[in-house]
Amino acid sequence: MQHFAIVTFGCQMNQHDSDRIAEVLRGAGLSQVPEPEAADFVLLNTCSVREKAEQKLRSEVGRLGVLKRERPGLVIGVAGCVAQQEGERLLKKLPQIDLMIGPDNIPELPALLADCEAGGPPRVRAEFDLAAPSFLAHNLAQGPALGSPSSAGRSTSAFVTVMKGCNERCSFCIVPYTRGPERYRPAREILEEIAQLTQVGVREVTLLGQTVNSYTDPSASFAPAAGERASDWQHTAHERARADESEFPELLHAIARRAPKLARLRYTSPHPHHLTRSLIRAHRELDVLSRHVHMPVQSGSDRILKRMIRRYTVAEYLERVTALQGAVPGLTLSTDIIVGFPGETRSDFEQTLDLVARAGFVGVFAFKYSERPFTPALKLGDDVPESEKSARLAELFEVSNAIRQRYLSSLEGSELSVLVEGRGKGGQWGGRSERNEIVHFSSPHELAGRLVQVRIVRANKNSLLGELAETVDALAPAEFAASVAEPMAAKPLRRLPLSPV
Ligand code: SAH
Ligand code: F3S
Repeated sequence: MQHFAIVTFGCQMNQHDSDRIAEVLRGAGLSQVPEPEAADFVLLNTCSVREKAEQKLRSEVGRLGVLKRERPGLVIGVAGCVAQQEGERLLKKLPQIDLMIGPDNIPELPALLADCEAGGPPRVRAEFDLAAPSFLAHNLAQGPALGSPSSAGRSTSAFVTVMKGCNERCSFCIVPYTRGPERYRPAREILEEIAQLTQVGVREVTLLGQTVNSYTDPSASFAPAAGERASDWQHTAHERARADESEFPELLHAIARRAPKLARLRYTSPHPHHLTRSLIRAHRELDVLSRHVHMPVQSGSDRILKRMIRRYTVAEYLERVTALQGAVPGLTLSTDIIVGFPGETRSDFEQTLDLVARAGFVGVFAFKYSERPFTPALKLGDDVPESEKSARLAELFEVSNAIRQRYLSSLEGSELSVLVEGRGKGGQWGGRSERNEIVHFSSPHELAGRLVQVRIVRANKNSLLGELAETVDALAPAEFAASVAEPMAAKPLRRLPLSPV
């Protein structure tokens, strides 16, 4: 077996997993090809958070089944949430599949493949590593195939996992079932990985976790800062507010100290609960933190939030994000929203529209509610008609797009600091501003991985067009060239459309 291909469904977390799986397979001597047609082993890395994940998987397996008839040696594997969720059941339904592997079993993949090659029967490995959790880290020895969200061919950005699993029980969500309980990565491992990434030219790190800001160091290396545990939220009971404190702010400070060359630090996805006073303080104190935060709210109706078991009210959410914006002028927010949750009335939905306007979200990732196996919301039924869900989704997008457009237009004439990711198809440079806006501009110079100032001349629907004002990189060009990793040889992953979280 020589060549493998990975097809990724789902979120950034899954994309990150795919990148790390590719490293595990390369470490076992295989080489990656972009298309399944040229591969001996095709791994479908699945997501079951929304949509009809199994249907999507079925059609992809069907397509690969045709290939397999031509080439009986082709091995088909399924990884990710669907593998964890369905296990043996799916093998029975889709006999073309040779192996299934859960998110915590990735390191065992080469051994499973070897069994397969030796003629072993189809296998499922999907067990949570509760006793000794492991975390997939970048394998820098293998060179620069980092999971750059830009996919622009340069490794300026990287994801770093800080925790996995989820202890929340949002009634609509399958993640606690497919990813298991929360497990945290030791801080020293996280700090070491980030320091190494900056050594090879990574300038921006996004910390990943399902409730990333609930982080607590399992090796207990952080001393709680004096006075940090008191909380004066008006809308949250004192005891609850104290319980919301985590060691995430300490982790952010430690990263800033350990990796001073880092230009930007982001995190996704936080839970509003753990948006605490200490985290807000970290945002005020640490310049490296992005001035944009994605803070899923899900609904603007207290009644629906309760049914969703989100464990906050609209007032609590607003109090916390308003305090954050007060501490960091110009900080923008984006969010996730579900429309058509069981029992959502027109009036509940209007409260959501109202919240979107009040919070001024510059990005709204909205989804129609879909029933997920094993979730508590199943017993609520799915009583909002599909046509009504679609209408609400369209209306929500209309409101949120207008807010976004006004916001982007307000940036015309301003200068933004842009971390350049790479050249797009038309030859223009593309990068992201401090607040995560996509910015394009032209320049004959080699600027990948650089921080530049760009004057914005026009706001497009989802991006900004500008002119280069100045290159403001702290690194001298020679030092920079030596520190930046090589361009990726070829775009190794076939990317399916990714959702933001
Ligand atoms: N832990 C992350 C990711 C959860 S899944 C978080 O808290 O944000 C990503 C998003 O998918 C959720 O925020 C929610 O908006 C949406 N989602 C999850 N389950 C869903 C369902 N059953 N139907 C529709 N949207 C769903
Ligand atoms: Fe899902 Fe809620 Fe956790 S949305 S991932 S159960 S915070």
